[in-house]
Amino acid sequence: MDLGIIGAGYVGLTTAACFAHLGHEVTCADANPALVAKLSAGDLHLAEPDLDRLVADGLAAGRLRFVADAADAADADVVFVCVGTPSDDDGSADLSAVVAVVERLAPVLRRNAVVVNKSTVPVGTTRRVRELLVERPDVAVVSNPEFLSEGHAVRSFLDPSRVVVGGDDAAAITRVADLYKEVGAPTLRTDSASAELIKYAANAFLATKISFVNAIANLCEMVGADVRDVSLGMGHDPRIGFQYLEPGPGFGGSCLPKDVRALVHSSEQAGYDFALLQGVIEVNDEQRDRVVAKVRDLAGGTLDGVTVGVLGLAFKADTDDVRDSPALAIVERLVEEGAVVQAFDPAIRSVDVAVTMGRDGYEAARGARVVVVLTEWSEFRSLDFERLAAEMERPAIVDARNLFNPNVLRHHGFEYTGIGR
Ligand code: NAD
Ligand code: UGA
Repeated sequence: MDLGIIGAGYVGLTTAACFAHLGHEVTCADANPALVAKLSAGDLHLAEPDLDRLVADGLAAGRLRFVADAADAADADVVFVCVGTPSDDDGSADLSAVVAVVERLAPVLRRNAVVVNKSTVPVGTTRRVRELLVERPDVAVVSNPEFLSEGHAVRSFLDPSRVVVGGDDAAAITRVADLYKEVGAPTLRTDSASAELIKYAANAFLATKISFVNAIANLCEMVGADVRDVSLGMGHDPRIGFQYLEPGPGFGGSCLPKDVRALVHSSEQAGYDFALLQGVIEVNDEQRDRVVAKVRDLAGGTLDGVTVGVLGLAFKADTDDVRDSPALAIVERLVEEGAVVQAFDPAIRSVDVAVTMGRDGYEAARGARVVVVLTEWSEFRSLDFERLAAEMERPAIVDARNLFNPNVLRHHGFEYTGIGR
């Protein structure tokens, strides 16, 4: 099929490259002309395993091209809207990019095309998009939320846990569902409101698991239990499972925080007080303060003028994405309290915060009174602790991702504080 993809970020670029890989003719539009030029040369702006190969293959086969105007991607059987839906000040999802794209597409869409909402959008948006297309009764609109996870974008897309397609038009739903036939995932056909809510419910549930385990970790610290054993003991119950039970500095990234806020907001609008999710947000915010307090305590009660080494700035391992990163929020607070921060992240060379970037973990630790681990990069596990200790003013570590064995660290002379242990 001829496919148009609007937006060439994590979701749009992955969707475009994967559908080209599956044999479709794909035109991907992004409003950023510099990005379009870069991508047309096969040069990617984000680090995702295998994505560069799929983009290169698509370009070489002539099945993938990039354009700067959504209208130039509109001559297609199916057009996927994959633009950002960031948080507005009141927590609601800002739909201005989605609306702008649909208005641009409306007059130029191919006859009988299907417009697909792949951006994460609140309940009612599929209907709203249909209303924006009032002059185009021939065009159908469906919701097809995306569940990919950064760092595994291609794998999540080509081997998804499920495909959800929602709307009122059965034929349009079938056309979109058929595009995913080859990936062989369970496919759910729903009404548009359910499809839209599935996306928010899934992200909010993951966030709830994380805040739950963080709250349990806090309790563990007070009663002398070890959260790692507690979550292991919980996870063996298949009804609970092991995933999303890793305590840490709180959930971050471009999606979980904004989607939880948006679900609270849209629940409020619908007349439902989603107090449970307010609690999830509160625990998450507190978790950042708790990590800062642990660093302050190990530094001796104040951070003013204290050198702190930071390991990890990305919102999670295996990505260079710092959007809504708990690590960056914590670094900002450390700096506010007067700390001199030296940081290292394997995927990041610079950030918009007043930190000195080291070339490796040892350089970040040089002269530091405390080192704090904020992202769970597995390569931090193979640090030479003897050498790390020797670099520091005195060996003290806040392991906010519970990456290390406290006994090994203590054996190397470190004062060690983890999370919930
Ligand atoms: P992103 O910010 O990485 O990319 C969005 C792209 O859209 C940008 O490159 C921007 O230039 C482009 N754009 C904006 N307005 C445009 C316009 N009028 N015409 C053409 N291009 C335009 O965003 P993302 O992370 O890919 O997320 C997109 C949507 O998918 C969001 O709703 C997000 O919640 C959802 N989502 C994201 C992920 C993820 O892991 N990042 C996973 C699932 C769902
Ligand atoms: C998340 C979801 O996992 C995807 O399914 C969804 O499609 C996506 O949001 C989205 O809607 O954009 P992602 O943002 O890539 O994907 O991040 P996750 O891997 O879910 O991690 C989110 C945050 O939770 C990270 O800060 C991570 O460190 C933290 N986390 C995760 C924990 O603190 N503990 C855990 O056990 C798991």
